[in-house]
Amino acid sequence: MNLRIAHGWIAVLTFAGLVSMVAAEPSYEGRKKCGSCHRSQLDSWEKTAHAKAIDSLAPKAKVEAKKKARLDPAKDYRQDKDCVGCHSTGFDQEGGYDPKEPSKYLTGVGCESCHGAGSEYRLIHRKAGQAFEKKKQTAARKQLVDTGQEFQFSERCNACHLNYEGSPWKGAKKPHTPFTPKVDKKYAFDFDKAVRNNKAMHEHFKLDGTFTGAPVPSFRDEFQAKAKPAVKGKEE
Ligand code: HEC
Ligand code: HEC
Ligand code: HEC
Ligand code: HEC
Repeated sequence: MNLRIAHGWIAVLTFAGLVSMVAAEPSYEGRKKCGSCHRSQLDSWEKTAHAKAIDSLAPKAKVEAKKKARLDPAKDYRQDKDCVGCHSTGFDQEGGYDPKEPSKYLTGVGCESCHGAGSEYRLIHRKAGQAFEKKKQTAARKQLVDTGQEFQFSERCNACHLNYEGSPWKGAKKPHTPFTPKVDKKYAFDFDKAVRNNKAMHEHFKLDGTFTGAPVPSFRDEFQAKAKPAVKGKEE
């Protein structure tokens, strides 16, 4: 083969490799994907305030709370960049919520707001799930972390709940939440308590043990001990 052409091909292949590496950055896809397999968690999540968070931005919703926080209860905040970031899933990020073309699967604080953008790790869930079902073969949990799945949670919660001036959380930056402990003590956020708040969080359902190894959150055993049997779905 002509050496020149061979070099050209190597350059093209290397470039294609770089492009596919960039494209592999996980993106937000919305809860439809997650919920088609994890039915129980979806049904439970739908009953939480997180699921309805975008509705709080509508005019006439939560009038008293808005007045207390010096917001205008008559105003429609549903397209407001200073608000939607914490009331939707993946705003301003690849595949995430866009107020101009609002996908109903990205409204509210959805699965990926806490578990991480899912385009990559959900493919691993599918493959590992099939291997476990057929041959009881398990898979390493670490590959989920490498593809963007969250196992710590607290930083993600803090980015919405503790994002205000004078916050005990170091990462705070604008836009801030208007609902701070100065407005009302009930808005103070304690991760260890909040993550165990059964009304705010989806219920927990038994895992089969498809994934093994580190990392697991400190509260995994506690949640799994009380977990109910899961109703699983199949990806559509
Ligand atoms: C993307 C931003 C965001 C993330 C991430 C987030 N929350 Fe929230 N959370 C909200 C918003 C917004 C509300 C208020 C929803 C409403 O009433 O409109 C809320 C409400 C709550 C409430 C009060 C619910 C109630 O019934 O009064 C609790 C408790 C809570 N969140 C805990 C958590 C915990 C724990 C985490 C992390 C595991 C977390 N949140 C992650 C934005 C977020
Ligand atoms: C940095 C994240 C963040 C931003 C930005 C943000 N919010 Fe929220 N919002 C929250 C969180 C977290 C809660 C839940 C507080 C709680 O219950 O402890 C919340 C709760 C609310 C509630 C319900 C309060 C209640 O007591 O029921 C309303 C209404 C609301 N936000 C409106 C807005 C509006 C309007 C804006 C824009 C001007 C906005 N938010 C911007 C994070 C944010
Ligand atoms: C407000 C944050 C938050 C949101 C939103 C959220 N989860 Fe979770 N989820 C958690 C936490 C915290 C755990 C417990 C983690 C653990 O035990 O490792 C968990 C656990 C799970 C588990 C493991 C089994 C179980 O039930 O404990 C699955 C599966 C899951 N979530 C799926 C979902 C799906 C699907 C959605 C969207 C419909 C969703 N989650 C939305 C925080 C969240
Ligand atoms: C094709 C089906 C499928 C899809 C789509 C899917 N999952 Fe899973 N997921 C699974 C299976 C199977 C497991 C292993 C469950 C077990 O061990 O019982 C799993 C495990 C999990 C776990 C627990 C991981 C651990 O530590 O063991 C979480 C959390 C989770 N999924 C969240 C999500 C979220 C969030 C999405 C959407 C971004 C999603 N899943 C999409 C099938 C799926």
